[in-house]
Amino acid sequence: MAEPSTGERIAKIIARAGICSRRDAEKLIAEGRVALDGKTVTTPATKVGEGHVVAVDGKPLTEPESARLWRYHKPSGLVVTHKDPQGRPTVFTNLPKQLPRVVSVGRLDFNTEGLLLLTNDGEIARRLELPTGGWVRKYRVRLFGKPTQAQFDKLAEGVTIDGVKYGPVIADLERSGGTHAWATVSIKEGKNREVKRVMESLGLKVARLIRVQFGPFHLGQLAEGEVEEIPAKLWREHLGIGRKKTKPE
Ligand code: URA
Repeated sequence: MAEPSTGERIAKIIARAGICSRRDAEKLIAEGRVALDGKTVTTPATKVGEGHVVAVDGKPLTEPESARLWRYHKPSGLVVTHKDPQGRPTVFTNLPKQLPRVVSVGRLDFNTEGLLLLTNDGEIARRLELPTGGWVRKYRVRLFGKPTQAQFDKLAEGVTIDGVKYGPVIADLERSGGTHAWATVSIKEGKNREVKRVMESLGLKVARLIRVQFGPFHLGQLAEGEVEEIPAKLWREHLGIGRKKTKPE
């Protein structure tokens, strides 16, 4: 069959099959590990039409399952990657066995705890983690130091640290005394190490960081290491998508 010029981009098809994110699918293509109808694919611009077979490492993709989304309570001491070059334990090798292959919606640092969303659909992960989605990420933070609310209020207009521009940070001091304080911190973009870097800019060291909310989803009473599926109807409504729309039409 000739390569079609219409259809969906191949990286999107691979992401939807739950193999990896769209960006990682582009890497697989660059590494020559993806084939379309038996022929190695050389560009992520390749489109896949009805009836064509995409394979990764020689294995044809299976029909995508319906997209699913889970809340997971990440413990401290796990890295959010499928393969860690430093060999540290990963979130994915410590998940309950009943879970299918999943990807995470964004990342949390090795020592960060709390709410991490997981999905079997790389496209859904991408949509949820886009900073343009503007979803609030809320954290409870234990800090070394003696912060004041006045200090925190200055963060509301955003800060630039070492040339990196961070958006508004809403920080509320919960309690302070002795050498430590607790605060609630809300951000919208979720840049790399955002909370830690912003707090460091005030001379405060983050001793514990727990994500308690991601957009409309809450950590709630979910126990450490546990997962709970979010009903499709609920998250689809929040994302503004109808049923089954993530499957090819
Ligand atoms: N901000 C951080 O500094 N680390 C995280 O893991 C999440 C937000």
